[in-house]
Amino acid sequence: MVNSNQDKLDELKARIVTEKVTPELAATATQLVFGDGNPSAKIVLIGEAPGKNEDLQGKPFVGAAGKFLNEMLAMIGLKREDVYITNIVKYRPPNNRDPYPDEKETFLPFLQEQLSIIQPLLIVTLGRHSLNCFMPGLQISQIHGQPKRKDGQIYLPLFHPAAALYNKAMRQTLIDDFANIPLIMQKLEPSLTT
Ligand code: URA
Repeated sequence: MVNSNQDKLDELKARIVTEKVTPELAATATQLVFGDGNPSAKIVLIGEAPGKNEDLQGKPFVGAAGKFLNEMLAMIGLKREDVYITNIVKYRPPNNRDPYPDEKETFLPFLQEQLSIIQPLLIVTLGRHSLNCFMPGLQISQIHGQPKRKDGQIYLPLFHPAAALYNKAMRQTLIDDFANIPLIMQKLEPSLTT
């Protein structure tokens, strides 16, 4: 029997726990925050690491930044269930500190495996940590909203919703960049009617 994408994602999630990935982070976190949404999504959005609400609920982007993200998805006619949302680092760093480079490196192969199961048309990176995981050295302030191709995969670098939440100019820029997603998707898959 061929395993479904959801089965494969569940197996990968279980492996992160059994292989004791980043035990220091796992020790201070409530639980693993693996990812949420459609296991065959055409769009995957990738943040940085879970915060307090995500750690408690076990789902990415469920706090204030998540509410804003949901609003932007609704603006382009999408629900959370239509896309897949995850983070680079899958345990909450203590006191919401930035994830350390070695923590991001440790989780990267698992993220790559997650993406190779889902096989999205578009990967939306949220914030500089997520962007630099895939394209080191690029400046988010200079390339936000511009689709980039790397190794046959298309990426759309966007500002992080948490950073844009209380910064009026950045918030509007993020909303404007987000509004271009349907057009980008149409170009990637002309038959798409989102
Ligand atoms: N910020 C992130 O980068 N990820 C989350 O899941 C929540 C907030």
